[in-house]
Parts: sequence; structure tokens; C-alpha cells
Amino acid sequence: MPTVAAPFQAIIMAAGKGTRMKSAKAKVLHEVLGEPMLAHVIDAALGAGAQRVILVLGHGREQILAWLAQHEARERLVAVFQEEQLGTGHAIACASAYLADEAAPAHTYILSGDVPNLSAQTLSAFAAAAASEAGSTLALMSALVEDAGAYGRVWRDASGRVLGVVEAKDASPEQLKLREINTGTYIIQTAWLKAALEQYMQRPPQNAAGEYYLTDLVAMAAPAAIAWATPRLEETLGVNTRAQLAQAQAFAQRTLNQAWMEQGVTMLDPARAYIGRKVTLEPDVTLYPDVHLQGETHVLSGAVIEPGCVVKDSVIEAEATIKASCYLDHARVGQGSQVGPFAHLRPGAELGQDCKVGNFVEIKKSKLEDGAKASHLTYLGDALVGKGANIGAGTITCNYDGVNKHKTTIGAGAFIGSNTALVAPVSVGERAFVAAGSTITTSIPDGALGVARERQRNIEGWAARAAPKKRKAPQEG
Ligand code: UD1
Ligand code: CA
Repeated sequence: MPTVAAPFQAIIMAAGKGTRMKSAKAKVLHEVLGEPMLAHVIDAALGAGAQRVILVLGHGREQILAWLAQHEARERLVAVFQEEQLGTGHAIACASAYLADEAAPAHTYILSGDVPNLSAQTLSAFAAAAASEAGSTLALMSALVEDAGAYGRVWRDASGRVLGVVEAKDASPEQLKLREINTGTYIIQTAWLKAALEQYMQRPPQNAAGEYYLTDLVAMAAPAAIAWATPRLEETLGVNTRAQLAQAQAFAQRTLNQAWMEQGVTMLDPARAYIGRKVTLEPDVTLYPDVHLQGETHVLSGAVIEPGCVVKDSVIEAEATIKASCYLDHARVGQGSQVGPFAHLRPGAELGQDCKVGNFVEIKKSKLEDGAKASHLTYLGDALVGKGANIGAGTITCNYDGVNKHKTTIGAGAFIGSNTALVAPVSVGERAFVAAGSTITTSIPDGALGVARERQRNIEGWAARAAPKKRKAPQEG
């Protein structure tokens, strides 16, 4: 068996239909921590040191190939096709070209695409255990469970030597009682695997399911087969149903959140902090319940995110506060800035230091320089807001003329009165003022006041003359 650092490749079986998911999406693309299950399995293989990863695809292969084309490690990934799913043994036989080519390493790990939580550390521990058993050709990862259910059982002789794996469908009543299950993860000598498969595939399957079972190779390898029981049982949960997907997600989230808390992150309720796998958090970040941090989001030290916020692919700098119920997507919030409650930062929203964005403010592709404020009811699109400028309630940048988008520039220290429409392209100079209720269509020079509204007139005695019978006098009290 391999020495721990021995070169190896991995084959991931991912051709099955996943009927019980009842989904138009390929099973292995269903997500755990915001990433397809297959991404986790590929990362575990690469993380443990796989030289290349061979994916056996069948059902939903177009979807999976489209996803793989974007994968950052795609040069180390190869796909093979299993047209008809005739069983796990047949799946590996479909990859046989990669068991004998020049690049084939001495050992092949076999993993399932629907077991998303198996970690690189556990795989490495498995490899170390396999390496310590000199002379074995096949090692399988087993686990000790209360109820072995539909799993294959590891069958051993009286002295504990592995004789084979018996699938639940083929098991005798005695074998059904066994509590050591096959997790479906293997380390096998590549040359032996190729030869054994060739031999095995020569005759039709001899089991209840009529499938070519990879597990039949265990008996072929015996007595040079070993089973290593993982202590991390929950990692081996396979996902065949939506309920199991939820279980796998919950376990993954629990594990990840635990790790972030160990790094100094406060979570008021770790069961209700939904953090994606690519997110990074610094010490002294505080997360209230029902916060969703997704994609490449980075939250810096001392930042606080209140309940009900969704933050995608965004950066929240140190000491910033995102108050309750905000939605941020591809946005950046500068140090010490405050956002929300109920704010919407869309792609390209960028706030400098100590900015304030209050309730019902939407910002798209706009930059607010340090200390700028938009405290209430505002839309800023394609705008540049200078340092310390104050945007009054109800300000709207009219950035779209139905065909093109145009820019609004607001100078440092400018003051935009409430209920202003800024019809872009337009600029407001430094320290300039806009009178409340203006519709600004021409640029305002530095330090000037722009007023653009009808002058008010008051009509004396109007209330008494207008429909006097219908109007009631205001009630007292
Ligand atoms: C398999 C094992 C069982 C083990 C269990 C652990 C066999 C015969 N049995 O059973 O001992 O306890 O995993 O979860 O191997 N696949 C293909 N092509 C096929 C068939 C399957 O790619 O023709 C893929 C599936 O998509 C899946 C993986 O192989 O990712 C496992 O197949 P599945 O049918 O789920 O095997 P189990 O019945 O769970
Ligand atoms: Ca399965």
C-alpha cells in the first residue's frame, strides 16, 4: 500500500441519476455551503494531493461539464462518460483508460460525488492507515453505525480479516445485522484495479440488483483487503434525498461555523449563520442570526452584521455596521461605515470610510467618498459622491434615459435637498447646494445654489370657498 505521500489519482463517481432528488439539476450540482457537492469532493481529492481527478459522468453531464469548464483546477480534471449506469464497478471500468496511461500513478482513490463532507484530512488519515498495512492491494473506508440501513456491510472472518462487502439487497439475515458499513471510499493499487476490473467485467453480474458492483472487488482483493473505520462518521453521509442534502448542509455549516468561532468570530446563534465556503471573516466580527454571507465575501475585524442580511461577493471593512435587513451584492463598505436598516447595495456600490447609508436607499455602480451620507429614501445609480456630501431624503439620480445610462457627479461637501431629481448627465459642484424639490438638468458650479421648481403662491380664503358643504371643520380633541 502507499506510503502516505505516495502519488495518487482520484476517480469520482458521479453518473447516477439521483432519482430521489426529484430535480432537473444533476444531483452532484446541488449545493452545500453554496458550492456544488461535486466541488467539495474535488477539493477533498486535490486537497489530499491527487495528481489528477477523473470524473465519471452520465446523467446531467452537460450541466456538469458547463460547471467544470469554469473550475479553477480544470487542467487537473478529466471527464469520462458512462452512457448507461450499470453499477459502480462499471463506472470505474469506464475510466479504465486512465488506469494504464503514462500519467497513471501507482494508487487510485475512489470517491462518490454525492458524499460532500468527506474532508481532505480524513482522506489523508485513511491513506496513512492504508500505508501502514504492508502488502494490501485494496483499502476501503468503513464506519461503525447504529443502523446500517441500505449501506453495504463489511464482512469479516472470525479473526477480523476482511472477506468482502455485502450489499443490503444481497445480505443474509446475519449479515444484515452487521454494523460496519462501507462508505464507498477506496484506495486501490492502480495496476491491480485495472486487471481486476477486466476480469470482473467479463461475466454478467451475479447479484440481486443485476449491477456491476465495485464492492465485489473487495472479495477479489481479499486477503489483501483492509477496512479502516473513520472516526468522523458524519462526513460520510451520502446525499440521495433533499432531506439528506439538508442534513449534509447542516453538518457542513456547523463544522465551518465552529472553525470561525475558534478564529474569534462571534455568532449569536451559530445554527443560524449561513456562511459560504469561500467567505473569510476576521476576528471580532459579530454575526446576528439569519445572516447569509455568500460567494467571495470578506468581512474585516470588528464589523457587525445584524439580522436578516444577505451579503454576496462583497467586502465589509473593519468596524462597519450593516443594520438589519440589508441586501448587498458585489458591494464594498468602507471602514466604520453604517448601512441600513433596509438598504440595497447593488453591484459596484462602493462606500469609503465613515459613510452613512440609511433606510430605503438603493445604490448601484456608485462611489461614495469618505464621510458621505445618504440617510433615507434614495436611489444613486452611476454616481460619484464626493467627501462629506449630504444627500437628502428622496433624492433620485435619473441615470437612465431609456437607452443609455449617464453619470451624476456630486462634489465634496455638497448638500442635496430632499426630493431632488438629478437628471444625468449632470454635476453638482463642491460645496454646492440644491434646493429641496428641484429637478436638476444642468450642472451647478462649485459653491452655487441650484433651484429648479415652481415658486409657491398662496390663495387666500380658498378653503372656505371650495365645496363648503362637503368639507367638515376639523374635530376638536
Ligand atoms: C454504494 C456501495 C455501498 C456503500 C454505499 C455508500 C456499491 C455496489 N455499493 O451503494 O456498499 O455502502 O455506496 O454510500 O458500490 N454511480 C455511477 N454509475 C453507476 C452507479 C453509481 O456513477 O452506474 C455513482 C452514483 O452517482 C453515486 C455513487 O456512484 O455517486 C454511488 O452509487 P449509488 O448507486 O448511490 O450506490 P449505493 O447504492 O449508495
Ligand atoms: Ca449513494
